[in-house]
Amino acid sequence: MRAEPRKKRKRRYVPHEAALRFRPTNDWSWEEAQSAYENAEFDFEVDVIYYEDCIPAMDRLPDECIDVIVADPPFGIEFNGRETVYNRDSDLVVEGYQEIRQDYAEFTNAWISRLARILKPSGSAWVFSGWTNLRDVLDAIDASGLTLINHIIWKYQFGVFTRRKFVTSHYHLLFLVKDPTRYYFNKIEHYPLDVWEINRTYLRGQVKNGTKLPESLVMRCIDFTSRPGDLVLDPFMGNGTTAVACKGSFRHYLGFEINPRMREVIERNLSLVEPGAFYVPYSQRRDPLVEKARRKFGKIYRQSSDDEVQATIDSWIGD
Ligand SMILES: C[S@@+](CC[C@H](N)C(=O)[O-])C[C@H]1O[C@@H](n2cnc3c(N)ncnc32)[C@H](O)[C@@H]1O
Repeated sequence: MRAEPRKKRKRRYVPHEAALRFRPTNDWSWEEAQSAYENAEFDFEVDVIYYEDCIPAMDRLPDECIDVIVADPPFGIEFNGRETVYNRDSDLVVEGYQEIRQDYAEFTNAWISRLARILKPSGSAWVFSGWTNLRDVLDAIDASGLTLINHIIWKYQFGVFTRRKFVTSHYHLLFLVKDPTRYYFNKIEHYPLDVWEINRTYLRGQVKNGTKLPESLVMRCIDFTSRPGDLVLDPFMGNGTTAVACKGSFRHYLGFEINPRMREVIERNLSLVEPGAFYVPYSQRRDPLVEKARRKFGKIYRQSSDDEVQATIDSWIGD
């Protein structure tokens, strides 16, 4: 007589259970992160910014030497970097912001086509774009051999006042990888959404070029896709935000910026940050969904080991 196939036991869905069990894929204590940063070895100088055009400069980099690229290029909208649309004092904005004089598609192809060669097989790239030239950016990505994993919207708090159209208050952030089967992704949050609400920061009285990204935005990219000690390239350094985010997060950086007047701003910004100044182990960061789950299962969570928590949850999950 043939034995009846055993019925698979159905797991009952328990709201917030997965959040309770969430752990970052990889985590490092402050000391472990510092040691990875200090002991990382490279065949070329790192933690430097070259004041030159990134397109020919990227050709000098060896094959597969970069872990992560963060690229926030000029958007090709005739922006001159001295705008005062947010009532900012134009005296505090550095001149010489390089907008794109050539055809935007040609420029975009030129730099995006250089990324795949220099990325490690586990590497990834984060590309910022406004919506007006997004088509050119997506076309260049299609031709580049990189794979688009996520199309993230960065929503910030306000944009330029308009009378007969909606106020633009978002950028596109494209998350690309060299090899979709091998890319490094550290899931540091239980439920990371693809819309990121992060305020722009306007520091009163501080000299900068007018397109500065918030450090926390760049740090979010770096946190999810690199390890302490990794090397991050920013071909369009601007105010040096990526360099500052890297230094403060125990990552190394390399960058290009065509406008030599930014050197003073970048050096000052970097001088204000100690290595690891922003680094907090991922398991010690706030994750509202995880906190909610811990509140819900509070007593069991506080008094038990991981295995005991699991056993208790399993005992609630009947047929
Ligand atoms: C949108 S801004 C980058 C802002 C930067 N993410 C920040 O947070 O400060 C673009 C920068 O790219 C620079 N740039 C333009 N063309 C370049 C090129 N071919 N090579 C290197 N830098 C370039 C501009 O001078 C400008 O500083």
